[in-house]
Amino acid sequence: VTIKEQMYEGKAKQVFATSDPEIVMVHYKDDATAGDGEKKGTIRDKGIVNNKLSNALMQKLEKEGIPTHYVEELNDRDTLVKKVEIVPLEVIIRNMAAGHFSLRMGVAEGTPFKTPILEFSYKNDDLHDPFINHYYALALDLATQEEIDTITKYAFKVNEVLKKILLDVNIRLIDFKLEFGRLADGTIILADEISPDTCRFWDATTGAHLDKDLFRRDLGGEADAYQEVMKRLLG
Ligand code: C5P
Repeated sequence: VTIKEQMYEGKAKQVFATSDPEIVMVHYKDDATAGDGEKKGTIRDKGIVNNKLSNALMQKLEKEGIPTHYVEELNDRDTLVKKVEIVPLEVIIRNMAAGHFSLRMGVAEGTPFKTPILEFSYKNDDLHDPFINHYYALALDLATQEEIDTITKYAFKVNEVLKKILLDVNIRLIDFKLEFGRLADGTIILADEISPDTCRFWDATTGAHLDKDLFRRDLGGEADAYQEVMKRLLG
């Protein structure tokens, strides 16, 4: 395929059309935002880490039966993916209390749960991605019941597969966000990315943050932490 015009630019990625109407190219930038866009900066080589990690994890998920948008890694920062219409839901899975859960519920970060939590936010920057439940999604026609059932099933399966892959390299998967998309025929597949931008990774021994919280909370060391996750998972 040949690469054509830019279709969209997000906070961390650009999307380009290609000569194949069913394929787009994602370009991963080093730009980082936090606090609903209030903090802006860059994390050195984050784009490379997120591209390579997301691609490797999606390939493992495909082998476990979860359809994803991944097609082909072109270079350190560019990947061909299947073109989808994004379902406007941020699908979050939590295995332990952290972040907004801890704030909302008054539960200390790191508190384990009896069972994992799945939650939805409405993906809408103007509204700051409000917390919703599946009735909101149905009422506002963001997704059908069948799509929500598929998304829920895939999200919990992704959690099981990722937890295992990460624990093998001594990383605890605290929580993460997924996005799903629809192919032209309506099939639901996993889209967007799986990276230290979208997951909380804690070292299983020391509890050290190995994710974007280092940037969000001005703790420092984020570029090295991203490299560490890549080294552990990809060698
Ligand atoms: O902020 P919160 O605690 O709700 O985040 C839960 C998980 O979802 C975290 O792993 C965070 O990185 C991810 N997330 C994301 N993009 C958002 C909101 C949350 O990747 N817009």
